[in-house]
Amino acid sequence: MQKQRLDKFISNQLNISRKDVRTALKRGQATVNGRIEKDAAFTVDTDADVIIFEGKEISYKKYIYILMNKPKGVLSASNDKSRETVVDLVPAELKRAGLFPVGRLDRDTTGLLIITDNGEFAHNCISPKKMISKSYIASLDGEVTEEMCEIFGQGVTLKDGTKCKPAKLYPLDSNKARIIITEGKYHQIKRMFGTVGLGVNELHRESIGGLALPQSLEEGKCIEIAEKEAFSALLKVC
Ligand code: URA
Repeated sequence: MQKQRLDKFISNQLNISRKDVRTALKRGQATVNGRIEKDAAFTVDTDADVIIFEGKEISYKKYIYILMNKPKGVLSASNDKSRETVVDLVPAELKRAGLFPVGRLDRDTTGLLIITDNGEFAHNCISPKKMISKSYIASLDGEVTEEMCEIFGQGVTLKDGTKCKPAKLYPLDSNKARIIITEGKYHQIKRMFGTVGLGVNELHRESIGGLALPQSLEEGKCIEIAEKEAFSALLKVC
């Protein structure tokens, strides 16, 4: 059983200000289990009560999971004084208090980013101890050799002495490569390629665990996904 004030519940679930919710409540625009409820402080059981606001039933979701195809030039953060963030790109109908990106992609990196308000899920996704694989396509300024694949497979030591966990590296056509890592150190992939003398021109994340970026999702766009689908990001895949 989850108890919450009626105005807070409606405001959180629908991303409407508490003030606007209270005004609508006074006008009799909400019912709880079929009875008009005007008291903003009325306590609802979010698991059991049927709450209708402005004619629509609110289905309670404790957490939200948003999948974004991150475009270049946007900061992986919740808010920033001067720069546009990934949370700024979330459309109003999906916005809620407490949204943040799960891990960080560099400003110039594109691709799969999960945005949520579930801290435990995010921790499980990004903690290096959990060994969740993140797969990227890198466009490089040179060719990937067999030897580089072996070095990456053994675990690269970065120029500052930081040791990376073993990674998988697969050469693709046109100086591109797929690289799969299970941790997220600062600029990790760019620094890893730096150790073998390659520069990264473009970087795109295609999947996290068992969750892949849908091909149809354009850069800068978001979709809400169900909790079950989001949790496929926590699956250990090779
Ligand atoms: N590694 C990087 O260098 N950049 C990213 O955005 C992600 C991984």
